[in-house]
Amino acid sequence: MHIQALRGTTDLLAPDVARLARVERAARRLAKCYGYQELRTPILEDAQLFLRAVGETSDIVQKEMFRFKDRGEQDIVLRPEGTASVVRAYLEHNLHKTEGFARLLYLGPMFRAERPQAGRLRQFHQYGVEAIGSHSPWVDAEAIVLCVEILRACGVKELAVWLSSMGCRPDQERSRAALRERLRPRLSTLCKECQGRFEKNVFRVLDCKHPACQEMARTSASSPFLLCGDCQTHFGTVREGLTAAGVMFDDTKVFARGLDYYTRTVFEVRAKGLGAQDAVAAGGRYDHLVEELGGPSLGAFGFAAGMERVLMAAGDAAAEAPAPARQGVYLAVLGAALMPQAFRLAQQVRARGMLAVMDPEGKSLKAQLREADKWQCRFVAILGEKEQQAQALSVKDLEQGTQQAIAFDAFPEAMAQHAVHTQS
Ligand code: HAM
Repeated sequence: MHIQALRGTTDLLAPDVARLARVERAARRLAKCYGYQELRTPILEDAQLFLRAVGETSDIVQKEMFRFKDRGEQDIVLRPEGTASVVRAYLEHNLHKTEGFARLLYLGPMFRAERPQAGRLRQFHQYGVEAIGSHSPWVDAEAIVLCVEILRACGVKELAVWLSSMGCRPDQERSRAALRERLRPRLSTLCKECQGRFEKNVFRVLDCKHPACQEMARTSASSPFLLCGDCQTHFGTVREGLTAAGVMFDDTKVFARGLDYYTRTVFEVRAKGLGAQDAVAAGGRYDHLVEELGGPSLGAFGFAAGMERVLMAAGDAAAEAPAPARQGVYLAVLGAALMPQAFRLAQQVRARGMLAVMDPEGKSLKAQLREADKWQCRFVAILGEKEQQAQALSVKDLEQGTQQAIAFDAFPEAMAQHAVHTQS
């Protein structure tokens, strides 16, 4: 019986890893330009963290967490998202005291027990940022600009930024009541799930994919969110910031976020050609989460992007890596007795940061040369009886088309001069 990867999980082979690494590099490079510093939090977390942060009525908590009892004791989950973990870490390490305002970047796998489909996995990868410790709308605008810049750098061309404000908590109370009033007369036409959401979390109706619910949610008023004066001013400044940065956005779309911590600004970036799962990145402001997790009252804003979706949206653009130059050296060894010498030389080359590959199987010279070609090595260094006696390798430079003998002693340095430091 063949054991296969679990449904909704994937193996990433070398080309996939290279594509993913390019996305990671773009995220790291650009986030650094905006002052973000990377942190890594554990994949395992206390279940209570997400129950409190993401919300008991959210789909994530209700049905998507990989949750288990560790040795029958602790209630543990595989993290479904990064925001709650980052805020926990921020507080646990007293960053509110030492740093105050902190801009944090994270990358890594997240887990949600969703029904797998194209662009929806059970183990997927996110990069995300959290700017914790400010209520300023400029922080929102700056992070959204960063989000768009990273996507562009990854080759996502056709994207739409949906921007909205859910208002502060009192605004949300008013909006909930107003939305219920609007939906109540036709409550029975909503899908079963939304009938349940009507009382528990009515905003989620705005997000339902069921046509009848969509129809209901999107008719009558443009935005279901009623904003107080301060929230209107905040939202106005976010729009001003985006306009100043030349980022286009659409603030007419009605949508809700599936996590409960949001207040004020929320946004989603949708990419063309992704089908039903077209949100490549999303986020917003969460001005109560730090306090709800036991910290001081601090404003915060963040977003996360699904790397698999970014790659799908970028399509061929993501594959457009510059053709890798030939690099490294292939050591072709003719005879088992010469292995220790070749082994030593290969090691000395690698110690200088250069790729050195050798055949451990004792293949024929022809087979080894074929292999050197497969590796796209720039040099092939042959070590046979003749070379052993001369204490010098026969080295072919496949890029220049030249050949020369290089003494064992001089070989590692001679190779190192051509080291191309690997960029996957
Ligand atoms: P989210 O909207 O749940 O937000 O996820 C962000 C992004 O992760 C989505 O837009 C999507 O690209 C990707 N994603 C989510 N679920 C899956 C899945 N099952 N398979 C593949 N990709 C997926 C959050 O996670 C918030 N923590 C964002 C945030 C940060 N808000 C404030 N700070």
